[in-house]
This record gives sequence, structure tokens and C-alpha cells, in this order.
Amino acid sequence: MDFSGKTIVVAITGGIAAYKACDLIRELYRRGAHRVLGIMTPTAEAFLPSLTVQALSRYPVYTSELSVDDHGVPIHIVLAQQADALLIVPATTDTLAKLAHGLADNLVTTTAITFTGKPVLIAPAMNTRMWDHPISQQNLETLKSVPNYQVIEPASGSLACGEVGEGHLADQETILQALYAALHPQRDLYNGVKVVVTAGGTSEPIDPVRVISNRSSGKMGLALADELAAMGAEVILITTRPPSGRRYPIMTVQTAADMKEAVEAQAAQSQLVLMAAAISDYRVDNPSAQKLKRTASESRQLDLVPNPDILAGLGANKPAGQILVGFAAESQALIHHATQKLQAKNLDAIVANDISRSDIGFEADHNEVTVLFPHRAPEMLTRSSKPEIARQLLLLLHQQFFA
Ligand code: CTP
Repeated sequence: MDFSGKTIVVAITGGIAAYKACDLIRELYRRGAHRVLGIMTPTAEAFLPSLTVQALSRYPVYTSELSVDDHGVPIHIVLAQQADALLIVPATTDTLAKLAHGLADNLVTTTAITFTGKPVLIAPAMNTRMWDHPISQQNLETLKSVPNYQVIEPASGSLACGEVGEGHLADQETILQALYAALHPQRDLYNGVKVVVTAGGTSEPIDPVRVISNRSSGKMGLALADELAAMGAEVILITTRPPSGRRYPIMTVQTAADMKEAVEAQAAQSQLVLMAAAISDYRVDNPSAQKLKRTASESRQLDLVPNPDILAGLGANKPAGQILVGFAAESQALIHHATQKLQAKNLDAIVANDISRSDIGFEADHNEVTVLFPHRAPEMLTRSSKPEIARQLLLLLHQQFFA
């Protein structure tokens, strides 16, 4: 998730979650944002000194709706002209009400109503009773109907006041994912397309403690699911490494058998299946119900039996119109082995990467892949971050199969 070149306004209103805006500003810079500009309401300043926001954002922080720039232009106009998105975090009950009724009596609400045609993301945080109040809920519905407004609903959890319930500011990853999707240049590319993505490496039990597994980090599959969600797809991620903060459905599995059951339940209704998971080819026959004890002198044998090839099974029963994409991690003869898998598993494409290189692939943050198709020349996606490879791969698949 990359915010390179983007100018983001972080608007802070007066709630205890105001301090969380500080981490968000830092994270936006960490993920490449060009400028992060802070604005605050006077009440927010009671919770968080504007100097803190200024130090983190590296720009002056304005707190009055009467503020102007060096040329006398009102700050809310400058921001609406120059920024790419407005993120109101946290948004209080009062701010929700004002936004829902078009009030513009502080710098945050004035900026929001000036921000036409660009994303305004509103992340409320408040006590559960305030959130549950019918008037807040009514305001929420009104805000959801504004085309460029998006509400990032609060989570359930223990609140600063000591109560437990809904009203907890959505976590940072959820807010960033929503912002990323709102700014995505291809945000409608996969609109409504149903997609299954698998990720991670399965593990097969030896006994209640030990497993046979592999080094797959799940990052490539996760990057694909994140990109697809940002491109409007109805994505389901089936993974051994569930991430936090995602708003799309995630099924967590452990073994190849779990993976098979989950994939087969989802694949039939899907137009695109991306099998990025590293699935164990073997499992231990009759894993021990009790922890195996060390025997000092004897070696131990494990009987391994083959797991079903899930992708080959999908390929053999592929519904008309479904696009099936495999992944091939190879340590030698990359193109040769990948081509064989493409044909043997009846795939529409296979994404091959060279795991003998330590700078890409397993456990790495980067990848370089060659995409092979049955009836056209292969396409190479040169070394990039996994999210960037995911984006390029999805553009390529769209152009090939969905355009
Ligand atoms: N795959 C699968 N079920 C398995 C093994 C692999 O569905 N039991 C899928 C993977 O998710 C991947 C593709 O098949 O999309 C290729 O996986 P890979 O491990 O590279 O190849 P294998 O077919 O297992 O062959 P080998 O291990 O001999 O290279």
C-alpha cells in the first residue's frame, strides 16, 4: 500500500482517540505520502497539542476556520484545492452531527463541505451510548448517502471510559486500507467480480505440538487480496496467516485438507481464483494424538501420504467462464516447470517466481515474476514490492480476461 505523491489532510476532532492520529500521520509518511497536513478543532487541542501534530506532519497546523495562507486565501479552500483526500480521525458525535447537517462552524467541518469531488473519510470514535443513539445512527445514514463521503465504522472493544462496546476507533490498518481504496486509480476495475485468493503455507500435524510446513509468508496472496478489494472486487481471502484490519471476508485454515474444503466451498461461485498458497504436497499418515517423546538413541520415521492437488481438481472441473490462476515457486528450470503446471492443471495463467534468489519470493517483501498463458507470450513483471507486483498482475489479468 503506497501513498506516493499524495497529499492527505488529517483532520482531528476532540475525542480521547485524538492521540491515535499521531501514529496515523507517521504511518502515512512511512508509506510514501508526499504531504500530510494536520488541521484540528479547538476541542481537539484540549486532547492533543497542535505542536505535536505539527512536528509529525512537518507543516503548520491550523485550528481556526478563519485561518488564511500567506496570500490571504482561506485555509479550507487551499486544502480542498491541493489535497487528494480528507481523513477525519477521530470524528466525534458532534462532528458527525455537524457534517450530516452541512454545518461549517470550525475548520474541520468547513474543510469537509469544501472538499467536493474528492474522498472524505470519516472515522468516528465515541462512547457506545453516543454511537448507538438513534440520532447518531440517523446522522450516519445521512453521511453514507453523500457520494464522496465514506464512514469507516468503529470497532467493538474496551473504550477509554472503561465501558465495552462499539465506538472504538477503527484500527489503523483498516483506516489506511479504506484510504488506499478511495485513492486507487483503478478502483472500479474489478467492480463486483467475485474472487477467491489463497495465501500462506499450510502446515500438517505430526503430533499436537509439531507440524510440517514451509516458508511461505502469505504476503503475495495478501497483497493480491488487498489490491482486489481496492479495485472493487468481492474478494475472499483463504489463508494460513490471517491479517488484521481488513474489511473483506477472511477464512483461516491450517492444513491442506482445510484449504481444500474452504476453496471448494468458495470457488464454484467465483469468476477468478488465484491460488497463491504454498500447499503441502504431503501430510503425515496418522498424526500422533499425544506428543511424541524423544527417544535418545533411535531415529524416527514419518510416513508421508500425498495431499490432493487442489488446483488440479479445480482445473478438471472448471465452470465455464471461470479464470484459474496458479503460482509456481521454482528453484530451477522456472519456465519449463511452470509451463508443465499450466498445462497439467488446465490453468488460464500461471505466475512463476524463482525461489533460489534471496531478494525475492519466499519471506521477502519483493517479488519478480513471469506470467505464462496457454496461448500468448509470457509477460515478465520485474522486481518490485509485492503490492506493486500484485497491482501489475491484476492489470494484466484484467486486460487478458475481463476487458
Ligand atoms: N497446489 C495445490 N494443491 C497442492 C499443491 C499445489 O492446489 N497440493 C497449487 C498451488 O497453490 C500453486 C500450484 O498448485 O498455485 C503450484 O504449486 P507448486 O507447489 O509450485 O507445485 P506442485 O504442483 O506442488 O509441484 P512441485 O511441488 O512438484 O513443484
